[in-house]
Amino acid sequence: MGRLTHWEGEPVSVWIERWRVPLFEAYDDLASTSDRLKEIAREGTGQLSVVISESQSAGRGRRGATWHSPAESGLWMSVLLPAPSRSVAYLPLIVGLATARAVERVAPGIDAGIEWPNDIVIAGKKVAGVLCEAVASGPADSVEGVVAGIGVNVRTPPGGYPPDIRERATSLEESAGAWVSRSALATAILMELTRVTDTDGFGSAGVGADVYGLSLPKPLLDALNHRNVLSNQRVHCEQEGPGVARGILASGALLLERDDGSRVGVVAGSVRVE
Ligand code: BTN
Repeated sequence: MGRLTHWEGEPVSVWIERWRVPLFEAYDDLASTSDRLKEIAREGTGQLSVVISESQSAGRGRRGATWHSPAESGLWMSVLLPAPSRSVAYLPLIVGLATARAVERVAPGIDAGIEWPNDIVIAGKKVAGVLCEAVASGPADSVEGVVAGIGVNVRTPPGGYPPDIRERATSLEESAGAWVSRSALATAILMELTRVTDTDGFGSAGVGADVYGLSLPKPLLDALNHRNVLSNQRVHCEQEGPGVARGILASGALLLERDDGSRVGVVAGSVRVE
């Protein structure tokens, strides 16, 4: 693991100033940016602290999956968000919304959808994923914050994607047919993250206060449902079985209509389109 003094041609201090973040660490290689940010958060750092690495040797996806993170092909980034005072299932969704909006800002002509609960997709292929993890420390295991790990495939890796994800993965450049700036993408993600936690309905509390309500504010819920690629799709949910996905609920759950007409909110587990 090598700490970098510069990232994307500018000193790290310039990014700290430009992004108005309390801390930014850049590396050429790390096990996982989320692990590093958790360490920093336990020592105490401000919200919106950022860790980015050119590559990750143990990049992590949801449910213990490996996140393929080779050099020069993606944005592997973790951002510290305020700790919720209660469990909020919708957190990965709003990080996903911020990422989808950011992706569209830097790659014009792209329509970025959200595949519940944590995938950002373009034309049915996954371009980015989000993994939110709480950071607990202290004797009472008080929650210090939430590490939002965001992985965006910016360009196709030199050797292509590993066989198990090849069919389903895409990159921003491949989808847009144009060069995409990773620094512009990181900047847009931070801007959109601030927007969703600050102005899009969480009121004036802003980052730093208890910004999360029990349910998603309507503008965010509407924005998510607008991008929800599972809407009215026949799906199979790991825990609830088959049915038709009817939308995202204010709690962050996916509303599943079973074949007998009953409806249930799916809160966890994987969902696949049938
Ligand atoms: C998923 O789709 O399963 C979530 C993928 C999250 C990957 C990112 S890359 C930056 C951060 N560091 C990690 O180890 N994982 C997240």
